[in-house]
Amino acid sequence: MGKPKVFVTRVIPNDGLDQIRAFCDATVWEDELPPPREVILRETRDADGLVSLLTDKIDGELMDACPRLRVVSNYAVGFDNLDIPAGSSRGILMGNTPGVLTETTADFAFALLMASARRIVEGADYVRADRWKTWGPMLLMGHDVHHATLGLVGLGRIGVEMAKRARGFEMRVIYYDVIRHEDFEQEYGLTYAPLEDVLAQADFVSVHTPLTPETHHLMNRERFALMKPSAILINTSRGPVVDADALLEALQSGQIAGAALDVTEPEPLAADSPLVQLPNCLVVPHIASASRVTRGKMADIAARNLIAGLTGEALPAGLNNDALGQGRSTLPRDW
Ligand code: DGY
Repeated sequence: MGKPKVFVTRVIPNDGLDQIRAFCDATVWEDELPPPREVILRETRDADGLVSLLTDKIDGELMDACPRLRVVSNYAVGFDNLDIPAGSSRGILMGNTPGVLTETTADFAFALLMASARRIVEGADYVRADRWKTWGPMLLMGHDVHHATLGLVGLGRIGVEMAKRARGFEMRVIYYDVIRHEDFEQEYGLTYAPLEDVLAQADFVSVHTPLTPETHHLMNRERFALMKPSAILINTSRGPVVDADALLEALQSGQIAGAALDVTEPEPLAADSPLVQLPNCLVVPHIASASRVTRGKMADIAARNLIAGLTGEALPAGLNNDALGQGRSTLPRDW
């Protein structure tokens, strides 16, 4: 008996890769850049499992071209790159990596908030450019974080952790979500408000929604127009939740004071793109979950999801475990 054949679209930490290599006949794409689609198609054509990244589009066309594929394990909590209904209708199990990156991502979102409010990167650039000649009474003045109002757009796991961090700075926290969470309101002293009110009142707006057709360009021209001219936008969710052209206009016109983006539309952004060039826009390369421990835990879950799917079990972090026992998940195993 052989081992199940899998394709892993990038090198992930050994916390997961070792498990995958022990259980499977694994082909791992070693380049820093994602494999082109034709490579994913070629390498997955006769594979039983696939470990994908958020940069890989896994859709029905790919599934049809890979008739043995029974499990897709996404190395990310976000899964807007996966077509879940397409997987379910074929009995292909799909999983993600929730929970383990929540606090790490919230730490980073709060770091972006602090860095943009207090102009830390601009300050470091100023010193590197040898412009620091004296203590300046007006030099690089920013915005206070303590006692300011934080507006959360989306109150999932990461939004809640962001609220907990804000409490330490004695911030007032207001939030909008499609579902009201009265338990969190009580526990963390949050106030629910319609999105328009959150945007109008917040000194910092931090976006924590998944990317769905409903949240695509949620932050658009009309919504930026509601924000205070002193407000700062933080985005650690997905780039297309924010309309990049509208954000650029809002920053250039002084409609809002600043932005700090871990995610962008498109991704990556070139160094000469207008948002990157703006002094009041801090852009970093989608690294909010990038602590060694967290990326290791994500790899571990991704491996366990993959192996569970290959052995015909429900995925520990499954997105469509109800597809178990249907379609491809019932194919005979020859390993
Ligand atoms: C995710 O997991 O969705 C993040 O964007 C990357 O860790």
